[in-house]
Amino acid sequence: MPTNPIFSAKNVSMHFGHGKKLVKAVDDVTFDIADGEIISIVGGSGCGKSVLAKVMLGLYKQTSGEFKYHGNDITNQRDHWNDVQSVFQDPFSCFNQFFTIRAQLKDAFGILKTKLTKEEIDQRVDRALLAVNVTPADIEGKYPFELSGGQMQRMLLARIFALRPKVLLADEPTSMVDACVRANILDYLMKLKQELGMTIVFVTHDIGLAYYVSDRIFIMHEGKIVESGVPDEVALNPKSPVTIQLIDDIPEIHKEWIKR
Ligand SMILES: Nc1ncnc2c1ncn2[C@@H]1O[C@H](COP(=O)(O)OP(=O)(O)OP(=O)(O)O)[C@@H](O)[C@H]1O
Ligand SMILES: [Mg+2]
Repeated sequence: MPTNPIFSAKNVSMHFGHGKKLVKAVDDVTFDIADGEIISIVGGSGCGKSVLAKVMLGLYKQTSGEFKYHGNDITNQRDHWNDVQSVFQDPFSCFNQFFTIRAQLKDAFGILKTKLTKEEIDQRVDRALLAVNVTPADIEGKYPFELSGGQMQRMLLARIFALRPKVLLADEPTSMVDACVRANILDYLMKLKQELGMTIVFVTHDIGLAYYVSDRIFIMHEGKIVESGVPDEVALNPKSPVTIQLIDDIPEIHKEWIKR
């Protein structure tokens, strides 16, 4: 366990509803994440990955337990979002349909405490677009509805690359892109980690992908973390039946990533 964790969760639960309708989306999880680590949260649909990511983002306040960012409770969401940014499954919901993409990429800088000049912002936006294989001309004057799901997902990533947050929560960020773009995005995420020391929490169904990108993997099932450890430990020597099932479910094209 890291000594000065960036995130620390002690017996954290996030329950919804009551009585018969009680949903234990996240149920008594305890973990620490170190500065600069890449953590993958892996599990099947409905196991609580996104809800946990939303607690980390300060969108939900846990219903019980202790959750700390750099040793403090998350009291001010705006301050938190200065450091912690996210990419979610549905890229369209993250952009306003009535404004051009470029305008929104630039607007995103409003959230930062350090103010940049217009030229600096333009430069960062252009570089971020190129990083996700889009030339600035491709999106000039375009609105979100004019792009495909995969293209929009890249716009979300471009926003992250431009803002350079301390922490990135990426919830299935490559689910809508093809394998080639996916590999580029993952490589770029790792480059960001190396260059900026960014901490990345990566949410996915795919333990093969997690094996490829992470320092540690957390396996979730029914709201709980049932297994965790370094990729070689978890993916090559799985202990939980849930992990074994997840390995069986890896898409063929990623199986080669786990060298047995
Ligand atoms: N706001 C909410 N109110 C009530 N229940 C919720 C809410 N959000 C999520 N849930 C429930 O919590 C459980 C965990 O949901 P979550 O979105 O975290 O799953 P997930 O692991 O991200 O799944 P997927 O891989 O399909 O995205 C599910 O049973 C879901 O229906
Ligand atoms: Mg989810």
